[in-house]
Amino acid sequence: MALRNILRFGDRTLNKVSRPVDKFNDRIHTLLDDMRETLLAADGVGLAAPQVGVLRRVVIVMDTNKETETPEEQIIELINPEIIFTDGEQTGNEGCLSLPGEYGIVTRPNVVKVRAFDRYGKEFEYLGEGLTARAFCHEIDHLDGHLFTEFAEHMLTPEELDELEGRDE
Ligand code: NI
Repeated sequence: MALRNILRFGDRTLNKVSRPVDKFNDRIHTLLDDMRETLLAADGVGLAAPQVGVLRRVVIVMDTNKETETPEEQIIELINPEIIFTDGEQTGNEGCLSLPGEYGIVTRPNVVKVRAFDRYGKEFEYLGEGLTARAFCHEIDHLDGHLFTEFAEHMLTPEELDELEGRDE
């Protein structure tokens, strides 16, 4: 496994459409293993392959609602994911590992069901709620070259960010 470099906002790769995966081979397994390591090191909630410069429809998302012994066990691997059901609405702060320190207010569905393939090519469905639902939408947007800044009603100002940090302490 190896850490991969996360592309920053402004890199044109982030605006490109990723291609579906058709071979569930070692290359994809290595990509997923590296993405897992990179996400955990960056302390993020989700990561999409284009963020590490690979234009393939691969994302990983942490299901933070799942009680596990280690954060690694919360990671869901999604290949060629599609949203097949949504319900409700949530409006809140959203960020991205490609825009460190920046947050915006984005409205997303509160429940999102995805259909995807696992690393061995087996199809499955997964229901995410709250932050997980938000992350599913955010990461799948990356596969179509979209960043959350396009959907943000408002990007937080430095003053608003200070308040946010104050609340966390
Ligand atoms: Ni992102």
